[in-house]
Amino acid sequence: MEALWKRTGRPRERLETNINTDVVVIGGGLAGILTARLLKERGVACVVLERDRVGSGSSGKATGKITAQHGWKYRALIDCFGEDRAGQYADAAMRAIGEYDRLIRQGHIDCGYDRLPALLYSRDSIDRLEAEREAANALRIPMEMTTADDLPFPTAGALRLLQQAQIDPLRFVEAIADDLTVYEYTPVLAIDGKIVRTDGGCVTADRVVVATRFPFIDAPGYYFARMHQERSCLLALQNAGTLGGMYYGIEDGEWTLRPCGDLLLFGGSSHRPGETEGDPFGALRAAAARLFPQAREVAAWAAEDCVTLDGAPYIGAYSPSLPGVYVATGFGKWGLTGSMTAALCLQALLTGEAHPYPVFDPHRFHLPGDLPDLLSQSVHAVCGYVDGAVSMPQGAANALSPGEAGIVTLDGRTLGVYRDQNGHPHTVSARCTHLGCGLSWNGDEQSWDCPCHGSRFDVDGRVLDGPAQAPLPRDHTP
Ligand SMILES: Cc1cc2nc3c(=O)[nH]c(=O)nc-3n(C[C@H](O)[C@H](O)[C@H](O)COP(=O)(O)OP(=O)(O)OC[C@H]3O[C@@H](n4cnc5c(N)ncnc54)[C@H](O)[C@@H]3O)c2cc1C
Ligand code: FES
Repeated sequence: MEALWKRTGRPRERLETNINTDVVVIGGGLAGILTARLLKERGVACVVLERDRVGSGSSGKATGKITAQHGWKYRALIDCFGEDRAGQYADAAMRAIGEYDRLIRQGHIDCGYDRLPALLYSRDSIDRLEAEREAANALRIPMEMTTADDLPFPTAGALRLLQQAQIDPLRFVEAIADDLTVYEYTPVLAIDGKIVRTDGGCVTADRVVVATRFPFIDAPGYYFARMHQERSCLLALQNAGTLGGMYYGIEDGEWTLRPCGDLLLFGGSSHRPGETEGDPFGALRAAAARLFPQAREVAAWAAEDCVTLDGAPYIGAYSPSLPGVYVATGFGKWGLTGSMTAALCLQALLTGEAHPYPVFDPHRFHLPGDLPDLLSQSVHAVCGYVDGAVSMPQGAANALSPGEAGIVTLDGRTLGVYRDQNGHPHTVSARCTHLGCGLSWNGDEQSWDCPCHGSRFDVDGRVLDGPAQAPLPRDHTP
Protein backbone atom coordinates (compact mmCIF):
# COMPACT_ATOMS: atom_id res chain seq x y z
CA MET A 1 0.00 0.00 0.00
CA GLU A 2 1.48 3.31 -1.06
CA ALA A 3 0.49 6.83 -0.14
CA LEU A 4 -0.71 9.21 -2.83
CA TRP A 5 2.27 11.47 -2.12
CA LYS A 6 5.29 10.68 -4.29
CA ARG A 7 8.92 11.36 -3.59
CA THR A 8 10.86 13.71 -5.91
CA GLY A 9 14.18 14.14 -4.08
CA ARG A 10 17.26 11.95 -4.60
CA PRO A 11 18.50 9.75 -1.73
CA ARG A 12 21.07 11.37 0.54
CA GLU A 13 24.21 9.72 1.85
CA ARG A 14 24.52 7.80 5.11
CA LEU A 15 26.70 9.08 7.94
CA GLU A 16 30.04 7.27 7.59
CA THR A 17 32.33 9.38 9.76
CA ASN A 18 32.50 11.26 13.07
CA ILE A 19 31.39 14.91 13.02
CA ASN A 20 30.74 17.85 15.37
CA THR A 21 27.85 20.31 15.27
CA ASP A 22 25.82 22.59 17.56
CA VAL A 23 22.59 20.59 17.49
CA VAL A 24 21.83 17.09 16.26
CA VAL A 25 18.21 16.34 15.37
CA ILE A 26 17.17 12.68 15.34
CA GLY A 27 14.31 12.03 12.90
CA GLY A 28 13.69 13.52 9.47
CA GLY A 29 9.92 14.00 9.69
CA LEU A 30 8.22 17.38 9.80
CA ALA A 31 9.10 17.94 13.46
CA GLY A 32 12.80 17.27 12.94
CA ILE A 33 13.18 19.02 9.59
CA LEU A 34 11.25 22.14 10.63
CA THR A 35 13.24 22.33 13.87
CA ALA A 36 16.53 22.14 11.93
CA ARG A 37 15.24 24.73 9.47
CA LEU A 38 14.20 27.27 12.11
CA LEU A 39 17.45 26.73 14.04
CA LYS A 40 19.41 27.35 10.85
CA GLU A 41 17.52 30.63 10.41
CA ARG A 42 18.99 31.66 13.80
CA GLY A 43 22.50 30.68 12.69
CA VAL A 44 22.66 27.43 14.68
CA ALA A 45 24.58 24.60 12.96
CA CYS A 46 22.39 21.54 12.80
CA VAL A 47 22.67 17.96 11.53
CA VAL A 48 19.62 15.71 10.99
CA LEU A 49 19.98 11.92 11.26
CA GLU A 50 17.15 9.94 9.64
CA ARG A 51 16.73 6.16 9.87
CA ASP A 52 15.17 5.88 6.41
CA ARG A 53 14.35 8.78 4.06
CA VAL A 54 13.16 12.31 4.85
CA GLY A 55 9.38 12.16 5.32
CA SER A 56 9.25 8.35 5.35
CA GLY A 57 7.38 8.32 8.69
CA SER A 58 3.91 9.69 9.32
CA SER A 59 4.76 13.10 7.87
CA GLY A 60 4.92 11.75 4.32
CA LYS A 61 1.59 9.96 4.79
CA ALA A 62 -0.54 12.68 6.41
CA THR A 63 -3.75 14.04 4.89
CA GLY A 64 -1.99 17.38 4.53
CA LYS A 65 -4.38 19.67 6.43
CA ILE A 66 -2.81 22.72 8.05
CA THR A 67 -5.41 23.98 10.45
CA ALA A 68 -6.00 25.23 13.97
CA GLN A 69 -9.27 23.28 13.99
CA HIS A 70 -8.30 20.04 15.71
CA GLY A 71 -11.61 18.21 16.10
CA TRP A 72 -13.46 18.72 19.37
CA LYS A 73 -10.46 20.37 21.00
CA TYR A 74 -10.79 23.78 22.58
CA ARG A 75 -13.67 22.98 24.93
CA ALA A 76 -11.67 19.96 26.17
CA LEU A 77 -8.45 22.00 26.51
CA ILE A 78 -10.12 24.72 28.55
CA ASP A 79 -11.63 22.06 30.84
CA CYS A 80 -8.25 20.38 31.26
CA PHE A 81 -5.80 23.31 31.40
CA GLY A 82 -7.88 26.44 31.99
CA GLU A 83 -8.29 29.33 29.58
CA ASP A 84 -4.78 30.74 29.84
CA ARG A 85 -2.95 27.54 28.85
CA ALA A 86 -5.61 26.48 26.33
CA GLY A 87 -5.04 29.93 24.79
CA GLN A 88 -1.35 29.08 24.35
CA TYR A 89 -2.33 25.98 22.36
CA ALA A 90 -4.70 28.06 20.20
CA ASP A 91 -2.15 30.82 19.65
CA ALA A 92 0.55 28.31 18.68
CA ALA A 93 -1.73 26.59 16.14
CA MET A 94 -2.71 29.89 14.49
CA ARG A 95 0.93 31.02 14.43
CA ALA A 96 1.95 27.72 12.79
CA ILE A 97 -0.36 28.41 9.83
CA GLY A 98 1.34 31.76 9.29
CA GLU A 99 4.78 30.11 9.43
CA TYR A 100 3.80 27.58 6.74
CA ASP A 101 2.63 30.47 4.58
CA ARG A 102 5.92 32.30 5.11
CA LEU A 103 8.12 29.27 4.32
CA ILE A 104 6.12 28.23 1.25
CA ARG A 105 6.06 31.74 -0.20
CA GLN A 106 9.70 32.55 0.64
CA GLY A 107 10.94 29.26 -0.85
CA HIS A 108 8.45 29.23 -3.76
CA ILE A 109 7.71 25.67 -2.69
CA ASP A 110 5.56 23.75 -5.14
CA CYS A 111 3.58 21.51 -2.77
CA GLY A 112 -0.07 21.87 -3.76
CA TYR A 113 -0.51 24.70 -1.26
CA ASP A 114 -4.10 25.83 -1.18
CA ARG A 115 -5.90 28.15 1.28
CA LEU A 116 -9.45 27.00 2.12
CA PRO A 117 -11.74 26.69 5.13
CA ALA A 118 -11.67 23.86 7.65
CA LEU A 119 -15.05 22.53 8.77
CA LEU A 120 -16.04 20.37 11.69
CA TYR A 121 -19.29 18.56 11.00
CA SER A 122 -21.73 16.75 13.25
CA ARG A 123 -24.24 14.15 12.16
CA ASP A 124 -26.10 14.15 15.50
CA SER A 125 -26.68 17.64 16.83
CA ILE A 126 -25.21 21.11 16.82
CA ASP A 127 -24.80 21.23 20.61
CA ARG A 128 -21.17 20.08 20.70
CA LEU A 129 -20.36 22.29 17.72
CA GLU A 130 -21.83 25.26 19.57
CA ALA A 131 -19.77 24.42 22.65
CA GLU A 132 -16.63 24.20 20.53
CA ARG A 133 -17.45 27.49 18.80
CA GLU A 134 -17.83 29.27 22.12
CA ALA A 135 -14.58 27.81 23.44
CA ALA A 136 -12.63 28.60 20.24
CA ASN A 137 -13.96 32.15 20.10
CA ALA A 138 -13.00 32.68 23.75
CA LEU A 139 -9.45 31.76 22.69
CA ARG A 140 -9.59 34.16 19.70
CA ILE A 141 -10.06 31.47 17.03
CA PRO A 142 -12.89 32.81 14.88
CA MET A 143 -15.04 29.75 14.19
CA GLU A 144 -18.61 30.24 12.97
CA MET A 145 -21.62 27.98 12.53
CA THR A 146 -22.60 27.04 8.99
CA THR A 147 -24.06 24.17 6.98
CA ALA A 148 -22.24 21.36 5.21
CA ASP A 149 -24.22 21.22 1.99
CA ASP A 150 -21.45 19.81 -0.17
CA LEU A 151 -21.07 16.60 1.88
CA PRO A 152 -22.81 13.56 0.37
CA PHE A 153 -24.65 12.75 3.61
CA PRO A 154 -26.96 14.68 5.94
CA THR A 155 -25.43 16.63 8.84
CA ALA A 156 -26.84 18.65 11.72
CA GLY A 157 -24.45 21.48 10.87
CA ALA A 158 -20.81 22.49 10.67
CA LEU A 159 -18.33 24.80 12.34
CA ARG A 160 -16.16 26.76 9.90
CA LEU A 161 -12.71 28.28 10.30
CA LEU A 162 -11.64 30.36 7.29
CA GLN A 163 -8.16 30.76 5.79
CA GLN A 164 -6.75 27.36 6.66
CA ALA A 165 -4.58 25.42 4.20
CA GLN A 166 -3.64 22.08 2.67
CA ILE A 167 -0.42 20.75 1.16
CA ASP A 168 1.27 17.66 -0.20
CA PRO A 169 3.24 17.01 3.02
CA LEU A 170 5.98 14.93 1.39
CA ARG A 171 6.82 17.52 -1.25
CA PHE A 172 6.84 20.19 1.46
CA VAL A 173 9.15 18.35 3.86
CA GLU A 174 11.53 17.35 1.06
CA ALA A 175 11.72 20.98 -0.11
CA ILE A 176 12.39 22.30 3.40
CA ALA A 177 15.12 19.69 3.90
CA ASP A 178 16.78 20.67 0.63
CA ASP A 179 19.48 22.96 2.00
CA LEU A 180 19.88 21.27 5.40
CA THR A 181 22.57 18.79 6.41
CA VAL A 182 20.66 15.52 6.53
CA TYR A 183 22.02 11.98 6.63
CA GLU A 184 19.54 9.34 5.49
CA TYR A 185 19.64 5.57 6.16
CA THR A 186 21.31 6.46 9.47
CA PRO A 187 19.45 5.01 12.46
CA VAL A 188 20.58 6.40 15.78
CA LEU A 189 21.49 3.61 18.18
CA ALA A 190 22.21 5.52 21.39
CA ILE A 191 22.76 8.91 22.98
CA ASP A 192 25.73 8.98 25.37
CA GLY A 193 25.92 12.46 26.87
CA LYS A 194 26.93 14.74 24.01
CA ILE A 195 27.64 11.86 21.63
CA VAL A 196 24.96 10.46 19.34
CA ARG A 197 25.95 7.02 18.05
CA THR A 198 25.03 5.39 14.76
CA ASP A 199 26.58 2.32 13.15
CA GLY A 200 28.38 4.57 10.64
CA GLY A 201 29.81 7.25 12.92
CA CYS A 202 29.15 9.53 15.86
CA VAL A 203 27.91 13.11 16.05
CA THR A 204 29.12 15.23 18.95
CA ALA A 205 26.80 18.12 19.79
CA ASP A 206 25.92 20.26 22.79
CA ARG A 207 22.20 19.71 22.25
CA VAL A 208 20.17 16.77 20.91
CA VAL A 209 16.56 16.86 19.69
CA VAL A 210 14.62 13.58 19.63
CA ALA A 211 12.02 13.98 16.86
CA THR A 212 11.42 10.31 16.08
CA ARG A 213 7.62 10.61 16.56
CA PHE A 214 7.75 8.03 19.37
CA PRO A 215 10.77 8.86 21.59
CA PHE A 216 13.08 5.86 21.59
CA ILE A 217 14.75 6.35 24.98
CA ASP A 218 12.41 4.61 27.43
CA ALA A 219 14.08 5.67 30.68
CA PRO A 220 14.31 8.39 31.78
CA GLY A 221 11.29 10.15 30.29
CA TYR A 222 8.89 7.19 30.27
CA TYR A 223 7.01 8.56 27.28
CA PHE A 224 5.76 5.06 26.46
CA ALA A 225 3.71 5.13 29.66
CA ARG A 226 2.05 8.46 28.92
CA MET A 227 1.14 8.12 25.25
CA HIS A 228 -0.40 5.60 22.92
CA GLN A 229 -0.37 5.41 19.12
CA GLU A 230 -3.41 5.52 16.85
CA ARG A 231 -3.42 4.38 13.27
CA SER A 232 -5.84 5.66 10.60
CA CYS A 233 -6.51 4.72 6.99
CA LEU A 234 -6.78 6.98 3.95
CA LEU A 235 -8.19 6.48 0.46
CA ALA A 236 -7.69 8.71 -2.59
CA LEU A 237 -10.85 8.57 -4.68
CA GLN A 238 -11.37 9.60 -8.28
CA ASN A 239 -14.77 10.62 -9.55
CA ALA A 240 -16.04 11.36 -6.04
CA GLY A 241 -16.95 15.01 -6.64
CA THR A 242 -15.27 17.86 -4.84
CA LEU A 243 -15.64 19.86 -1.63
CA GLY A 244 -15.32 23.55 -0.81
CA GLY A 245 -13.34 22.87 2.37
CA MET A 246 -11.52 20.31 4.51
CA TYR A 247 -14.01 18.39 6.63
CA TYR A 248 -13.63 16.45 9.89
CA GLY A 249 -16.40 14.64 11.76
CA ILE A 250 -16.80 15.46 15.44
CA GLU A 251 -18.27 12.11 16.49
CA ASP A 252 -16.18 8.95 16.96
CA GLY A 253 -16.10 6.79 13.83
CA GLU A 254 -16.69 9.74 11.50
CA TRP A 255 -14.40 10.69 8.63
CA THR A 256 -11.85 13.19 7.44
CA LEU A 257 -12.32 14.49 3.90
CA ARG A 258 -10.53 16.98 1.71
CA PRO A 259 -10.28 17.88 -1.97
CA CYS A 260 -7.00 17.22 -3.78
CA GLY A 261 -7.07 18.35 -7.43
CA ASP A 262 -9.56 16.06 -9.15
CA LEU A 263 -9.37 13.58 -6.26
CA LEU A 264 -11.03 13.38 -2.88
CA LEU A 265 -9.11 12.17 0.17
CA PHE A 266 -11.31 10.15 2.47
CA GLY A 267 -9.99 8.83 5.79
CA GLY A 268 -10.99 7.26 9.07
CA SER A 269 -11.08 3.86 10.80
CA SER A 270 -8.91 5.06 13.65
CA HIS A 271 -7.62 2.15 15.72
CA ARG A 272 -4.74 1.07 17.88
CA PRO A 273 -2.03 -0.73 15.90
CA GLY A 274 -2.06 -4.44 16.68
CA GLU A 275 -5.71 -4.56 17.62
CA THR A 276 -6.95 -7.74 16.08
CA GLU A 277 -10.68 -7.07 15.99
CA GLY A 278 -12.33 -5.33 13.03
CA ASP A 279 -11.16 -4.61 9.52
CA PRO A 280 -10.15 -0.92 9.34
CA PHE A 281 -9.62 -0.75 5.58
CA GLY A 282 -12.70 -2.89 4.91
CA ALA A 283 -14.87 -0.54 6.98
CA LEU A 284 -13.49 2.56 5.24
CA ARG A 285 -13.91 1.05 1.78
CA ALA A 286 -17.48 0.04 2.61
CA ALA A 287 -18.25 3.62 3.68
CA ALA A 288 -16.62 4.97 0.49
CA ALA A 289 -18.68 2.60 -1.66
CA ARG A 290 -21.87 3.75 0.08
CA LEU A 291 -21.16 7.48 -0.06
CA PHE A 292 -19.38 7.69 -3.41
CA PRO A 293 -20.74 4.79 -5.48
CA GLN A 294 -19.28 6.18 -8.75
CA ALA A 295 -15.80 6.62 -7.30
CA ARG A 296 -12.66 4.64 -8.10
CA GLU A 297 -9.89 4.11 -5.52
CA VAL A 298 -6.49 5.27 -6.80
CA ALA A 299 -4.46 4.97 -3.58
CA ALA A 300 -4.87 3.53 -0.09
CA TRP A 301 -2.51 3.87 2.84
CA ALA A 302 -2.31 4.15 6.62
CA ALA A 303 -0.18 5.89 9.20
CA GLU A 304 -0.02 6.34 12.95
CA ASP A 305 0.64 9.07 15.46
CA CYS A 306 1.15 9.46 19.21
CA VAL A 307 -1.67 10.67 21.43
CA THR A 308 -0.86 12.12 24.88
CA LEU A 309 -2.84 11.72 28.08
CA ASP A 310 -4.15 15.29 28.10
CA GLY A 311 -4.35 16.06 24.38
CA ALA A 312 -1.41 18.50 24.15
CA PRO A 313 1.96 17.54 22.60
CA TYR A 314 5.13 17.11 24.67
CA ILE A 315 7.68 19.69 23.46
CA GLY A 316 10.71 20.70 25.52
CA ALA A 317 13.37 19.14 27.76
CA TYR A 318 13.36 15.33 27.51
CA SER A 319 13.96 14.71 31.20
CA PRO A 320 15.62 16.58 34.07
CA SER A 321 18.18 13.77 34.19
CA LEU A 322 19.11 14.10 30.49
CA PRO A 323 20.50 17.64 30.25
CA GLY A 324 20.82 18.99 26.71
CA VAL A 325 18.29 16.53 25.24
CA TYR A 326 14.93 17.80 23.93
CA VAL A 327 11.83 16.08 22.61
CA ALA A 328 8.87 16.81 20.31
CA THR A 329 6.10 14.23 20.26
CA GLY A 330 2.43 13.49 20.91
CA PHE A 331 0.83 15.52 18.12
CA GLY A 332 -2.44 13.58 18.29
CA LYS A 333 -2.81 13.40 14.48
CA TRP A 334 -2.51 17.20 14.18
CA GLY A 335 1.25 17.23 13.73
CA LEU A 336 1.44 19.54 10.72
CA THR A 337 0.67 22.52 12.90
CA GLY A 338 2.14 20.56 15.86
CA SER A 339 5.53 20.11 14.17
CA MET A 340 5.69 23.81 13.33
CA THR A 341 4.84 24.61 16.95
CA ALA A 342 7.58 22.22 18.06
CA ALA A 343 10.07 23.92 15.76
CA LEU A 344 9.13 27.36 17.12
CA CYS A 345 9.39 26.19 20.74
CA LEU A 346 12.71 24.40 20.22
CA GLN A 347 14.12 27.35 18.25
CA ALA A 348 13.40 29.51 21.30
CA LEU A 349 14.63 27.02 23.92
CA LEU A 350 17.83 26.12 22.08
CA THR A 351 18.78 29.77 21.58
CA GLY A 352 18.45 30.64 25.24
CA GLU A 353 14.88 31.93 25.38
CA ALA A 354 12.11 30.81 27.72
CA HIS A 355 9.54 28.23 26.58
CA PRO A 356 7.06 30.32 24.54
CA TYR A 357 4.16 27.94 25.28
CA PRO A 358 4.58 26.21 28.68
CA VAL A 359 1.37 24.24 28.02
CA PHE A 360 3.57 21.90 25.93
CA ASP A 361 6.25 21.39 28.60
CA PRO A 362 6.67 17.58 28.83
CA HIS A 363 7.00 17.89 32.61
CA ARG A 364 3.56 19.34 33.16
CA PHE A 365 2.62 15.73 33.83
CA HIS A 366 1.27 15.31 37.37
CA LEU A 367 0.64 12.20 39.43
CA PRO A 368 -1.71 11.18 40.90
CA GLY A 369 -4.25 12.97 38.65
CA ASP A 370 -2.94 11.08 35.63
CA LEU A 371 -2.61 7.78 37.44
CA PRO A 372 -5.88 6.20 36.27
CA ASP A 373 -4.94 6.88 32.64
CA LEU A 374 -1.43 5.62 33.16
CA LEU A 375 -2.77 2.45 34.68
CA SER A 376 -5.18 1.93 31.80
CA GLN A 377 -2.23 2.24 29.39
CA SER A 378 -0.39 -0.45 31.36
CA VAL A 379 -3.44 -2.69 31.37
CA HIS A 380 -3.62 -2.30 27.61
CA ALA A 381 0.01 -3.32 27.46
CA VAL A 382 -0.61 -6.45 29.47
CA CYS A 383 -3.61 -7.33 27.28
CA GLY A 384 -1.40 -6.98 24.24
CA TYR A 385 1.02 -9.49 25.68
CA VAL A 386 -1.69 -12.07 26.19
CA ASP A 387 -3.71 -11.42 23.02
CA GLY A 388 -0.75 -11.62 20.71
CA ALA A 389 0.41 -14.95 22.03
CA VAL A 390 -2.33 -17.02 20.38
CA SER A 391 -0.57 -20.28 19.58
CA MET A 392 -1.28 -22.87 16.93
CA PRO A 393 0.43 -26.19 16.26
CA GLN A 394 3.56 -26.07 14.11
CA GLY A 395 1.86 -28.18 11.44
CA ALA A 396 -0.77 -25.51 10.98
CA ALA A 397 1.95 -23.09 9.90
CA ASN A 398 2.90 -25.51 7.11
CA ALA A 399 -0.70 -25.37 5.92
CA LEU A 400 -0.71 -21.57 5.54
CA SER A 401 -1.70 -20.47 2.05
CA PRO A 402 0.32 -17.84 0.18
CA GLY A 403 -0.42 -14.43 1.69
CA GLU A 404 -1.47 -15.89 5.06
CA ALA A 405 0.25 -15.63 8.43
CA GLY A 406 -0.05 -17.28 11.82
CA ILE A 407 1.64 -17.54 15.19
CA VAL A 408 3.21 -20.82 16.31
CA THR A 409 4.94 -21.88 19.50
CA LEU A 410 8.02 -23.97 18.98
CA ASP A 411 10.35 -25.17 21.76
CA GLY A 412 9.00 -22.47 24.03
CA ARG A 413 9.49 -19.69 21.44
CA THR A 414 6.59 -17.73 19.96
CA LEU A 415 7.09 -17.25 16.26
CA GLY A 416 5.23 -15.35 13.56
CA VAL A 417 5.15 -17.13 10.20
CA TYR A 418 4.12 -15.46 6.96
CA ARG A 419 3.96 -17.42 3.71
CA ASP A 420 4.69 -15.18 0.72
CA GLN A 421 3.07 -15.38 -2.71
CA ASN A 422 5.84 -17.76 -3.88
CA GLY A 423 5.12 -20.08 -0.96
CA HIS A 424 8.29 -19.19 1.01
CA PRO A 425 7.84 -18.89 4.79
CA HIS A 426 9.19 -15.80 6.57
CA THR A 427 9.58 -16.59 10.25
CA VAL A 428 10.37 -14.09 12.97
CA SER A 429 10.06 -13.88 16.72
CA ALA A 430 6.52 -12.71 17.54
CA ARG A 431 7.70 -10.76 20.61
CA CYS A 432 8.08 -7.03 20.16
CA THR A 433 11.68 -5.86 20.61
CA HIS A 434 10.50 -2.79 22.53
CA LEU A 435 9.16 -4.28 25.77
CA GLY A 436 8.28 -7.81 24.73
CA CYS A 437 4.53 -7.70 23.98
CA GLY A 438 3.02 -10.28 21.66
CA LEU A 439 2.56 -9.14 18.05
CA SER A 440 -0.57 -9.36 15.88
CA TRP A 441 -0.74 -9.89 12.14
CA ASN A 442 -1.95 -6.95 10.04
CA GLY A 443 -3.17 -8.58 6.82
CA ASP A 444 -3.97 -5.30 5.04
CA GLU A 445 -0.45 -3.99 5.35
CA GLN A 446 1.34 -7.36 5.76
CA SER A 447 3.08 -6.39 8.96
CA TRP A 448 3.50 -7.60 12.54
CA ASP A 449 1.97 -4.92 14.79
CA CYS A 450 2.34 -4.40 18.52
CA PRO A 451 -0.79 -3.53 20.50
CA CYS A 452 1.19 -2.11 23.42
CA HIS A 453 2.84 1.02 22.05
CA GLY A 454 2.29 0.66 18.31
CA SER A 455 5.60 -0.63 16.92
CA ARG A 456 5.32 -2.36 13.54
CA PHE A 457 7.65 -4.77 11.73
CA ASP A 458 7.71 -6.12 8.18
CA VAL A 459 7.54 -9.85 7.43
CA ASP A 460 11.32 -10.15 7.77
CA GLY A 461 11.33 -8.31 11.08
CA ARG A 462 12.55 -4.86 9.95
CA VAL A 463 11.19 -1.96 12.03
CA LEU A 464 8.49 -0.01 10.18
CA ASP A 465 7.30 2.10 13.13
CA GLY A 466 8.79 2.69 16.58
CA PRO A 467 9.24 2.94 19.50
CA ALA A 468 11.00 -0.41 18.79
CA GLN A 469 14.44 0.21 17.37
CA ALA A 470 15.76 -3.35 16.97
CA PRO A 471 14.47 -5.71 14.27
CA LEU A 472 12.69 -8.94 15.19
CA PRO A 473 15.10 -11.88 15.30
CA ARG A 474 14.55 -14.15 12.30
CA ASP A 475 14.07 -17.87 12.73
CA HIS A 476 14.65 -20.56 10.12
CA THR A 477 13.25 -23.60 11.92
CA PRO A 478 9.62 -24.15 10.83
C1 LIG B 1 -3.46 9.00 8.83
C2 LIG B 1 -2.93 10.29 9.38
C3 LIG B 1 -3.24 11.50 8.77
C4 LIG B 1 -2.76 12.69 9.31
N1 LIG B 1 -3.10 13.87 8.72
C5 LIG B 1 -2.74 15.03 9.31
C6 LIG B 1 -3.17 16.28 8.79
O1 LIG B 1 -3.87 16.34 7.78
N2 LIG B 1 -2.81 17.41 9.45
C7 LIG B 1 -2.05 17.36 10.59
O2 LIG B 1 -1.79 18.42 11.17
N3 LIG B 1 -1.56 16.20 11.07
C8 LIG B 1 -1.89 15.04 10.46
N4 LIG B 1 -1.44 13.86 10.96
C9 LIG B 1 -0.42 13.86 12.03
C10 LIG B 1 0.98 14.06 11.45
O3 LIG B 1 1.15 13.24 10.31
C11 LIG B 1 2.03 13.69 12.49
O4 LIG B 1 1.71 14.27 13.73
C12 LIG B 1 3.41 14.20 12.07
O5 LIG B 1 3.71 13.78 10.77
C13 LIG B 1 4.47 13.72 13.05
O6 LIG B 1 5.69 14.19 12.58
P1 LIG B 1 7.04 13.64 13.23
O7 LIG B 1 8.14 14.34 12.56
O8 LIG B 1 6.92 13.73 14.71
O9 LIG B 1 7.03 12.07 12.92
P2 LIG B 1 7.45 11.27 11.61
O10 LIG B 1 7.02 11.95 10.37
O11 LIG B 1 6.98 9.87 11.81
O12 LIG B 1 9.02 11.35 11.63
C14 LIG B 1 9.83 10.66 12.55
C15 LIG B 1 11.07 10.20 11.80
O13 LIG B 1 12.01 9.67 12.73
C16 LIG B 1 12.69 8.60 12.09
N5 LIG B 1 13.31 7.78 13.13
C17 LIG B 1 12.69 6.97 14.04
N6 LIG B 1 13.62 6.38 14.84
C18 LIG B 1 14.82 6.84 14.43
C19 LIG B 1 16.16 6.61 14.87
N7 LIG B 1 16.45 5.78 15.87
N8 LIG B 1 17.17 7.24 14.21
C20 LIG B 1 16.90 8.08 13.19
N9 LIG B 1 15.66 8.34 12.74
C21 LIG B 1 14.63 7.72 13.36
C22 LIG B 1 11.61 7.91 11.29
O14 LIG B 1 12.15 7.14 10.23
C23 LIG B 1 10.77 9.08 10.80
O15 LIG B 1 11.14 9.52 9.51
C24 LIG B 1 -1.91 12.66 10.45
C25 LIG B 1 -1.59 11.45 11.04
C26 LIG B 1 -2.09 10.27 10.54
C27 LIG B 1 -1.75 9.00 11.23
S1 FES C 1 5.75 -1.16 21.14
FE1 FES C 1 6.18 -1.32 23.25
S2 FES C 1 6.18 -3.45 23.58
FE2 FES C 1 5.79 -3.26 21.47
